[in-house]
Amino acid sequence: MPKPIRKAVFPVAGLGTRFLPATKAVPKEMLTIVDKPVIQYAVDEALAAGIETLIFVTGRNKGVIEDHFDMAYELEATLRERNKASAMEILNAQLPTAGNALFTRQQAPLGLGHAVWCARDIVGDEPFAVLLPDMLMSGDPGALRQMVDVYNRSGGNIVSLSRCDPDETHQYGIVSKGEDFGTHFEITGMVEKPKAGTAPSNYYINGRYILDSKIMTLLGEQKAGAGGEIQLTDSMLTLMGQLPFFGTPFAGETYDCGSKLGFLRANIALGLKDSELGPELAEITKRLLAESQS
Ligand code: UTP
Repeated sequence: MPKPIRKAVFPVAGLGTRFLPATKAVPKEMLTIVDKPVIQYAVDEALAAGIETLIFVTGRNKGVIEDHFDMAYELEATLRERNKASAMEILNAQLPTAGNALFTRQQAPLGLGHAVWCARDIVGDEPFAVLLPDMLMSGDPGALRQMVDVYNRSGGNIVSLSRCDPDETHQYGIVSKGEDFGTHFEITGMVEKPKAGTAPSNYYINGRYILDSKIMTLLGEQKAGAGGEIQLTDSMLTLMGQLPFFGTPFAGETYDCGSKLGFLRANIALGLKDSELGPELAEITKRLLAESQS
């Protein structure tokens, strides 16, 4: 059995420029899907996969993420006074165990690879997970649980994959498929945003990774790549020459909540699935569609 995956890194130091002006003062990870901030979905997914230590790499204007995972004494006192037991339960259910949520800071947004590297001392010498919170993964079991199940059998490095339309491959990090093992396959290459017609497949990396801690050494030496940023993919490509890499197709839905359309899609889809809100939202959606077409 390979070493267990106990730690997860959540890089949340990006600027969220695609979502301005909403993200001018509010981190994109705190925008809500139905009734929870985007970051909460990723944290719940990690906890359901057995993660014990949550490591947030934050940046400027992200303090509210820390507050979200802390006690809110005044709010709780008021709820207690007003006998709002169910609201109290909701608040308590989302609190990580004391001491299990750690925060480190990326002083400047130098890229995803650099953000992950900022967690190197907390990660130490063990394999770890990375979850990009703005990629909301809706599935049962959750995406990271599915990956950990594969990892426990295969070891190595694992990326979760979703499929896109073949003419959308230029928007994603695309992998090349090697030997197939049923639930997962070997990855023989990765290319960021390939030019139209050149993509090796339509499997894209959807924002969930299980990585060997050796990636940290490589990230420390990594030169800036595309967009002048330190790219995680560049160091993963180097690591691929040294250690096994597998991709596992995610059984579930992927929503890119860092883009406006993906965010709206997630709100509608998860709202429709919500047992309380779904039926009425379906009616409202139908009416709105009919009105917009008339
Ligand atoms: P994105 O590519 O979505 O970039 O980052 P962004 O800056 O957050 O958003 P846009 O493109 O300007 O709208 C992917 C993930 O990497 C994190 C982001 O927070 C997000 O989770 N990231 C990116 C960092 O933590 N630091 C960085 O320097 C860059």
